Amino acid sequence: MNVTNSMKKIGWAAVLAGGALAVAACAGLKQDKPLLPIESYERMIVGRFDADYVGTDNCVKKCHKHQKITDDFRHSVHGEQIRPETGLPLVNCESCHGPGSLAIEKIGDDVAANDRQGVKCDTSKFLDIMNLPAPAQSLICLKCHSAASTPSLALWNASLHALNDVSCFDCHKLHQGPQQKVSREEMAEMCYACHPEVKAENGLFSHHPIREKKMACTDCHEPHGSTQEHLLKGNTVKETCTRCHMEKQGPFAFEHGDVTENCSNCHAPHGSVNNQLLTASMPFLCLQCHSGHTAGSTPESTTLFNNRCTDCHSQIHGTDIPSANGQGALLQ
Ligand code: HEC
Ligand code: HEC
Ligand code: HEC
Ligand code: HEC
Ligand code: HEC
Ligand code: HEC
Ligand code: HEC
Ligand code: HEC
Ligand code: HEC
Repeated sequence: MNVTNSMKKIGWAAVLAGGALAVAACAGLKQDKPLLPIESYERMIVGRFDADYVGTDNCVKKCHKHQKITDDFRHSVHGEQIRPETGLPLVNCESCHGPGSLAIEKIGDDVAANDRQGVKCDTSKFLDIMNLPAPAQSLICLKCHSAASTPSLALWNASLHALNDVSCFDCHKLHQGPQQKVSREEMAEMCYACHPEVKAENGLFSHHPIREKKMACTDCHEPHGSTQEHLLKGNTVKETCTRCHMEKQGPFAFEHGDVTENCSNCHAPHGSVNNQLLTASMPFLCLQCHSGHTAGSTPESTTLFNNRCTDCHSQIHGTDIPSANGQGALLQ
């Protein structure tokens, strides 16, 4: 058994792969990206000093076109937020689009006449929110959604999404209906738009039931940011997985070294061509770290066990039961 040696080889392979990745990452860093101080983004979203806030009713009453948006909005969590002291809405159209007095200045009260003459609200007088840089778009939301009000956003600024100019708008389509949250049913398709490789993986033979809509990306990921690599929920991969697969959690009297600390040593979370989401088929999976062995210590017993190792080592994730020699061989 030469675990140490083959582990070293794997170690080197990892170092080389890591190096290749680091080079790939640097290529991204070379691109020019203006880094502005946060105040600059704030300045972009404070709105127009020359315009006044007129309220949702004034904003929309002269315009048929926004009927659906307005109805949906009123039935959304945002539309339902009322300030208790005043009874006035806490969130209205202008909370995100900026003050609207200049935009509606030139339209008359007669809706039918406006339609006939093609008089429209002057949208150029609103904040041009779709063309703001991503950090400024997100600040529009973050001015209310602080970490205190939305704890899942506490790590947003350091998240891979924020750092790669993905903004709140990219995932939250606020005017497609009253729903403001990303629904579990529509989530995967939304994420696949930017992560097509995950869709391909989930299409493989063995897969977590995401495409059957029994699971969603957020069962394992926290898209707003996390303390773990790959935006995973929990503090370790094991913690991410054992929220559902509790029987694999341990601690066991006989553990599989520390390899089960990271379930992705052996499992591909989104999907795999091998049974049970395995990253390689048996025995190759095991032979990456172990050599096959013979049935006994006598020279006659030379049959090498190079088949399905788990036919015997069925307790591959750990067990409390010692093997015949009193040690752990993960047999039962
Ligand atoms: C919580 C923030 C927020 C509020 C409140 C909000 N919007 Fe929007 N609005 C957006 C964002 C973000 C977009 C960009 C496009 C998108 O996500 O659909 C947008 C886009 C729009 C558009 C252009 C795109 C489209 O879908 O036609 C219109 C018109 C619009 N909003 C009208 C309104 C009206 C009317 C209200 C109030 C009833 C309102 N918005 C309230 C955030 C908001
Ligand atoms: C003027 C304050 C304000 C702004 C600006 C604002 N929100 Fe909200 N939002 C709220 C409040 C208040 C709630 C309800 C309480 C809560 O869930 O935190 C809410 C709830 C939500 C929810 C939860 C809905 C649910 O069903 O649980 C989402 C998602 C959301 N906002 C996204 C956004 C996004 C994206 C933006 C920026 C385009 C934004 N909000 C801008 C105040 C705001
Ligand atoms: C990469 C996609 C993505 C981005 C970017 C994103 N969100 Fe979300 N957000 C989601 C998903 C998915 C959910 C649903 C979470 C769930 O079902 O557990 C969600 C849920 C929420 C909720 C509901 C409360 C909660 O914590 O579940 C709020 C509020 C919210 N997002 C606000 C924001 C704001 C504000 C931003 C920008 C700073 C933002 N989101 C950026 C995907 C995203
Ligand atoms: C069962 C848990 C689980 C689910 C569900 C899940 N992921 Fe993952 N995802 C992981 C783990 C674990 C990793 C880290 C893989 C590794 O370490 O090799 C990962 C890695 C990733 C990565 C990094 C690139 C890669 O493939 O290694 C992306 C992007 C990703 N997931 C997106 C998604 C999206 C989008 C969904 C929903 C369609 C999703 N994930 C659903 C567990 C999950
Ligand atoms: C607008 C495009 C966009 C959308 C939509 C989007 N992402 Fe991402 N995501 C990115 C970018 C860009 C990165 C950082 C670069 C990379 O690793 O691909 C990233 C990174 C990630 C990572 C970490 C990848 C790693 O290598 O560690 C995960 C996990 C992830 N996204 C999951 C999700 C999930 C889950 C959703 C849906 C709720 C989602 N993303 C929606 C663009 C997007
Ligand atoms: C939200 C719950 C949940 C989380 C979190 C979760 N799983 Fe699963 N897992 C499931 C479900 C549901 C199935 C499908 C069971 C079935 O089809 O009978 C499954 C099946 C599996 C299978 C067996 C697949 C097969 O073909 O029999 C493996 C292996 C697995 N998960 C590993 C993992 C790993 C590794 C992680 C962490 C990256 C993880 N799971 C996280 C719910 C979860
Ligand atoms: C050393 C490799 C290895 C590691 C690490 C590993 N597994 Fe497995 N896992 C396997 C093998 C091999 C099978 C198939 C067992 C069989 O064929 O009897 C399996 C099967 C499974 C199954 C489906 C069958 C069952 O026993 O329920 C689940 C669920 C599972 N693993 C979850 C996990 C979780 C969660 C982790 C992390 C805590 C993990 N695995 C870590 C090798 C591993
Ligand atoms: C990522 C490397 C890795 C993979 C893959 C792996 N193992 Fe291991 N295995 C180890 C390490 C490390 C130990 C602990 C060695 C030690 O403590 O001497 C170990 C220990 C064992 C032990 C002995 C336990 C004991 O206490 O003596 C058995 C049996 C075993 N592995 C079987 C398997 C089988 C079967 C597979 C394939 C399903 C497998 N291993 C896959 C790294 C791995
Ligand atoms: C026919 C059943 C059987 C098969 C198949 C089998 N093993 Fe074993 N394995 C055993 C037995 C029995 C032991 C010794 C148990 C003891 O020490 O009490 C053992 C011990 C081990 C040990 C621990 C050796 C040590 O030094 O403590 C490792 C590692 C191991 N096997 C790996 C594998 C791998 C990898 C495969 C697949 C290539 C495999 N085994 C296939 C029955 C099997």
